[in-house]
Amino acid sequence: MLGPIVILGVFVADTAYRAARQPRLGETVMGDSFALGPGGKGSNQAVAAAKAGGKVHFLSRLARDAFGDLALRTWSEAGVTPEVAFSEQGYTGAAYIFLEAGTGNNAIIVSPGVAGDISEEDIDARADLIRRASVFVTQLEQPLPAAIRGLQLAKEAGVVTILNPAPAAPLPDGMLALCDWVTPNESEAEALTGLLVHDPITAEAAGRMLILMGAGGAVVTLGAQGAVLVPGDGAALHLPAIHVGPVVETTGAGDAFNGGFAVALSEGRSPADAVRFGIATAGISVTRPGTAPAMPMRAEIEALLSRPS
Ligand code: RIB
Ligand code: NA
Repeated sequence: MLGPIVILGVFVADTAYRAARQPRLGETVMGDSFALGPGGKGSNQAVAAAKAGGKVHFLSRLARDAFGDLALRTWSEAGVTPEVAFSEQGYTGAAYIFLEAGTGNNAIIVSPGVAGDISEEDIDARADLIRRASVFVTQLEQPLPAAIRGLQLAKEAGVVTILNPAPAAPLPDGMLALCDWVTPNESEAEALTGLLVHDPITAEAAGRMLILMGAGGAVVTLGAQGAVLVPGDGAALHLPAIHVGPVVETTGAGDAFNGGFAVALSEGRSPADAVRFGIATAGISVTRPGTAPAMPMRAEIEALLSRPS
């Protein structure tokens, strides 16, 4: 039996405001629309992976409040098994998402609430689950010590580890050595390496640098330009994005990619096929509003991948 995919991360409620532009300090601007829905990078990745066909357990922390209920409902509908500690004080967090009318580009503030208290002890309480995973995934929205502890437990047990270094943050020495794969977007790759990243060539250079810094391999995602796979032991490969239809909202596209990538790796597919699967997952997600609610079902991903090009 294939081990489950274990994802550690944050759930928040996404509050998305579409407007022509963001307000300046002291200013009020009128918005075009508003939507409330489930979000948080780790939770989005868990929902994406479960809908893409993975058996997914999600490690997090919630408060007993309305947004905490939204989290539990979201996971139950997507088929994600919650591995959640509850805080009796504090709140389940939220994200402010500004969506630029016309482009669908975004700017985000995340307040993780009690998920900001996820601790090494929370991780140790799920050590057995992590050790029998096929793939372990985390990001940087919860505190670093928890991420590091999860990666350590997984790596020691020979579980494939993926770090999606989002949002960008400086990493302590040695952390990348715990990662079989690191999956930054352009700006996260720049923040980690100090190199400018804007196309496949510069993405490959950043991927090589991340491997020198300790990562097993890197996938640098480039939005509409697809992604560059830099394996630890071979030639880099640029895989183009797959255009599905008009872009409605790109928020959560990176999460869709990471969820799909994790599922394909957990099934033993090659890294190149796993990147293709992630790109297809993300390609569909950007044609739909919202983050977690935009994640495609496996049948849709398979249909897209078998579409004649
Ligand atoms: O990656 C997108 C996510 O980042 C959003 O759902 C928002 O909650 C922020 O955490
Ligand atoms: Na979307």
